[in-house]
This record gives sequence, C-alpha cells and structure tokens, in this order.
Amino acid sequence: MVSFLLAFHVLTTFRLSGGVRLPKLPRTTAETAASAGVSVSLGGITYVNQGLVGFGRIPSNATESTGDTIGGIGSAIAIKPGTWRGLENGSFIGTLVVQPDRGFNVISTIDYQARRHEIDFILNPYSSTAKLTFAAAQQTLVLSYKNTVLEVERNNTKTSGLDPAAIRAAMAGAGNNPLADPQMPIASIAEPHLTIDAEGLVANLDGTYWTSDEYGPYIYHFTADGHLIQTIQPPAAILPFDSHGNLNFTANVDPATGRGANQGFEGLTLDTTTNTLYVILQSATIQDGALQYTRLFAYNVSEPNVSVPLVGEWVVPLPLSSSGKVEATSEIHFVSEGVFLCLARDGNGHGGSGDKIKYKHADLFSIVNATDIHGTSFDLPSTPVAPKGVLNKSITPATYVSFVDYADSTQLARFGLHNGDPDDNTLLDAKWESLALAPVGDSAPNDFFLFTASDNDFLSTQGISLGQPYNAGEDVDNQFLVFRVTLPGASQNVKTALGISQ
Ligand SMILES: *[C@@H]1O[C@H](CO)[C@@H](O)[C@H](O)[C@H]1NC(C)=O
Ligand SMILES: *[C@@H]1O[C@H](CO)[C@@H](O)[C@H](O)[C@H]1NC(C)=O
Ligand SMILES: *[C@@H]1O[C@H](CO)[C@@H](O)[C@H](O)[C@H]1NC(C)=O
Ligand SMILES: *[C@@H]1O[C@H](CO)[C@@H](O)[C@H](O)[C@H]1NC(C)=O
Ligand SMILES: *[C@@H]1O[C@H](CO)[C@@H](O)[C@H](O)[C@H]1NC(C)=O
Ligand SMILES: *[C@@H]1O[C@H](CO)[C@@H](O)[C@H](O)[C@H]1NC(C)=O
Ligand SMILES: *[C@@H]1O[C@H](CO)[C@@H](O)[C@H](O)[C@H]1NC(C)=O
Ligand SMILES: *[C@@H]1O[C@H](CO)[C@@H](O)[C@H](O)[C@H]1NC(C)=O
Repeated sequence: MVSFLLAFHVLTTFRLSGGVRLPKLPRTTAETAASAGVSVSLGGITYVNQGLVGFGRIPSNATESTGDTIGGIGSAIAIKPGTWRGLENGSFIGTLVVQPDRGFNVISTIDYQARRHEIDFILNPYSSTAKLTFAAAQQTLVLSYKNTVLEVERNNTKTSGLDPAAIRAAMAGAGNNPLADPQMPIASIAEPHLTIDAEGLVANLDGTYWTSDEYGPYIYHFTADGHLIQTIQPPAAILPFDSHGNLNFTANVDPATGRGANQGFEGLTLDTTTNTLYVILQSATIQDGALQYTRLFAYNVSEPNVSVPLVGEWVVPLPLSSSGKVEATSEIHFVSEGVFLCLARDGNGHGGSGDKIKYKHADLFSIVNATDIHGTSFDLPSTPVAPKGVLNKSITPATYVSFVDYADSTQLARFGLHNGDPDDNTLLDAKWESLALAPVGDSAPNDFFLFTASDNDFLSTQGISLGQPYNAGEDVDNQFLVFRVTLPGASQNVKTALGISQ
C-alpha cells in the first residue's frame, strides 16, 4: 500500500518532457475490457461502458495544508487544464482539482472556508479480468495531495460553511444578487461572510473556476487564487421562498417553493464550444413534488464578468427506485451538443444509510427533443412544471437512459471492492458526486477515461476540523474510480476543456 506522503514524493521526483503524445494502448486493452462492456443507445448513437480500469483512495485521516482533514473531496472534481498526459509506458498523469462541500458537519454546520485542492495522479489502467487485491488495486490510480486554495469574497473576507441565517443585499463587483449569509458572532457582523455549500466545479482554461452551491442555489465565479468575481442567481422558481414569499436560504427546513433543503445545484459542466455553462438541481423543486422532474439550466458565459444570461432550461426525469424514491443527481458532465452524463444514486454504501447499493450510476440523457422552458411562466414559483409530481403535458422532458453501473459486483471484485456486507473500507462508498473525462488517445478517439470520486463527509476517527480533533465514530476513505467509456462526439469538448490541441 503506497502511503499518501510516499506517493507525493514519487510523483515529484520524476521528470517529464513537455508535450508527450498520448500512447497507443495495446489492442488487447479495449478487447479485454469490452468483454465486460455494456452498450446503450441514445438518439441513434451507441455508447459503451468498457468497464472499470482504475481505483484509488485517499485515507479518511489524510490532512491538507491548513491542518484540516482533507474530506469531502469527491463533491466535485475536474482535471486541471494543461496537465493531462499519456506516458510512453502506457500510464497517464495529470492533476485533479477537487472541491469539498462544507466541512465536517455531521453534528452541526461549521465556519468552514470554501476551498479547492490540487491532487496529482498517475493512472495505470488495468483491464485484465484477474482479481487484484485491495492493496494492489490502489496502484492503478495513485493520488498525491499537492496544495490548497482558500476562497474569499470582497475585502478578502473568508467564505463560511455555516447554515445561512441571514440575507445580505446585493454587493457591487460580484453580481447584483442578494447573498446567503450566516449569523456570525457579533464581532464578525460588520464583515458579513458569504456562505457556500460547494457541489459542482468547472475549471476554465484561464485558471478561473465556476462553483455551484446548494444554499442559494447559486453559481459563483472565482479567480485562480480564490477571489469571488461573479455570482449567478437562478430563476425565482428555484430560489427558496418561505410561505410569506420571503427568501430564506436555510438548509435546515424545506422552503414553500424552490429547491428543497440540501437539494441545490449539485451538477455543473461547461460546453467549451459555445461557452455554455449547464447546471442541474439535485431533485425537483418543492412545487414540482420534490421528486423526479428536476431541471437543467444553461447560461451563456461568453462574457462572464459582464452578464451571464439564462439561455435554456429543460426538465430531466431522474430514475425512481422500486419504492418510488428518486435517485437524485449528484453531478452532470457535458458529452456533446444536447447529451450529458448524469450521476444518479441512492444513499447506500460505505458511510451511507445501508450496505447494499441498489442504484449508483453514471447515466446518459439527451435534451435534443426536450422542451426549452426558459423565460416562460415556469420560471415563477406559482407555475410548477410537475404539480404534485405529475409532469405538465405541454413539456417534453429529456430522454434518459441507464449507462455505467458503479456497483457491478464483477467489476468491483477485479479491484478488491464489493457491494453489500461487510461494511468496511472495501465496500463501495455511498456518496459519489463527481465526474471528469480525459481522452484515451489517438488510437481510440471516441474512448475516454471517466473519473469519479466519492464525498466521505469527512468521516474519520482521527479527524481535524478547524484545527480541533474530532472522532466521527467511523472511517470512510475518499474513493476514486476510473471507467473506460466510448462516447462518440465527446472528443472536441473534452480536448478543448483540457487544453489539448485538436
Ligand atoms: C429525437 O426525435 C427523433 C425523431 O423522432 C428521434 O429520431 C431521435 O432518436 C430522438 N432523440 C432522442 C435523444 O430522444
Ligand atoms: C492515518 O492512519 C494510519 C493508520 O492508523 C496511520 O498510519 C497514519 O499515520 C495516519 N495518518 C495521519 C495523517 O494521521
Ligand atoms: C510509467 O512511468 C511512471 C513514471 O515513471 C510510473 O509511475 C508508472 O508506474 C509507469 N507505468 C507502468 C505501467 O510501469
Ligand atoms: C471593506 O472593508 C472596509 C473596512 O472595513 C469597509 O469600509 C468597506 O465598506 C468594505 N467594503 C465592502 C464592499 O464591504
Ligand atoms: C429562515 O427560516 C428559519 C427556519 O424556519 C428561521 O429560523 C429563520 O429565522 C428564517 N430566516 C430568515 C432570515 O427569515
Ligand atoms: C453568448 O453571448 C455572446 C456575447 O456575449 C454572443 O455572441 C453569443 O451569440 C451568445 N451565444 C448564445 C448561444 O446565445
Ligand atoms: C474579469 O474580472 C477579473 C477579476 O476582476 C479580471 O482579472 C479579469 O481580467 C476580467 N476579465 C475580463 C475579460 O474583463
Ligand atoms: C401546463 O402548462 C401550461 C403552460 O405551458 C399552462 O397553461 C397549464 O395550465 C399547465 N397545466 C397544468 C395542469 O398545470
């Protein structure tokens, strides 16, 4: 087993010549993996899951540069532009930008400053059907913590993870929107703190980042060094209003209309060709029955400093469990015009509510035939798209198909992992919340590595939160999986987003 620090040492001591071409993978790689593969058709195009090729973990007690436990990092991931490279020996290297949500908040929300970490990785794709041990499997994706950037708003004020108990009026210089604010101690009230529960992440070529949040639910734009430069507020239909029609950003109770408590903007992705930023709500709004008919929004971010207009809005029908419970979405990723990957899941798995995972998927949906409802009365709280959960007949929703099953026992067993009992660190985690794509190389132009990571909720028996030790009573690692998938049409966007010349 490679320790976190040892791996870091190894990674920083080998040198790379710049601009190494992606290697041609041996034909056998695709063929072996495809024997376990699953094909699905959407809009006349065939997409293939070729199986699991990588597993990595960051131990539950690993710490970052501020001294805090580095938990929650699978809430959002992105591959840092300019870092993805194939090596001559068949391995791939790069840097993941990862974003935790709001710190260790099992007991109560805390004054956790929003942050991003960089983690270097070496991917050694493994496609044989022979079973690796859990220890050996971790050599397929070796992860090494690099650094942390803390986020601030105007006046270099730290952001907070505390539940929003107050509303601040619009502030100049970062979007003309009221902001969620925690009730800070008296000494801090003169200096309000924007409160963020970060969930989605897009890493731009210019080094800036878009972050989506659950509280607002808003989208924030930060500079590379963590300064807030723009905020995007969704239509009124999504904002949390109480029964008197007042905004109230708390995540402790459901509002009368708008996003449910802790059901904010979980998924964020960018179409680099048209500069369209897409964001998805975790599950349907309260007025839409808080169930499967969630909404996807598109913003034109061609001029991110000046204006960020809403240019599209569609209804996405999330999967339902056999008992009618919605498998809410934790992330989306742009594939090609109108087509997206969608991470939808239950709450079972390590660190979750039960041990037996029933639904943990990276699915596909298309909005090609769906009704664009942006700018209509559906943007008002008074006009639900799905009153009591029944979709209005004037709306055609997205077409949704099942795709990559994370909990496939055969695939998991190849990496020393399992689904169901026993509840130990070889059980697949419960909270998978992130997706990132990288190209396999010129020999298979439609093939991509799909990276995904779990949010461990900072669950550690040896945790440190805001400098203080804690014991969450349970150790849950941050797990990472890498699948190899065939996604026709995805190449241009993936390469542009990663800064790879076409
Ligand atoms: C959209 O509709 C066309 C025409 O009915 C159909 O051929 C195509 O498969 C549909 N695409 C999706 C993604 O549903
Ligand atoms: C994490 O726990 C392991 C096993 O108990 C221990 O070897 C390691 O030193 C710990 N790491 C940190 C950063 O505390
Ligand atoms: C390829 O080289 C890198 C850097 O030396 C190393 O970390 C990796 O393990 C090698 N991959 C294989 C398959 O040997
Ligand atoms: C920044 O802080 C200064 C000093 O506390 C204060 O006068 C000013 O109003 C603050 N600016 C904003 C935009 O809040
Ligand atoms: C928001 O709602 C919560 C729960 O009902 C309440 O305690 C709080 O005072 C409200 N905050 C505002 C700013 O109205
Ligand atoms: C996005 O905005 C830019 C200018 O800000 C404009 O040129 C472009 O046509 C817009 N794109 C869409 C899809 O509306
Ligand atoms: C946008 O604003 C940021 C921060 O103020 C600044 O660094 C950047 O140059 C601006 N970009 C444009 C295109 O104006
Ligand atoms: C469906 O939506 C239309 C607007 O597109 C609205 O006029 C109609 O009342 C809605 N129907 C229901 C049952 O809500």
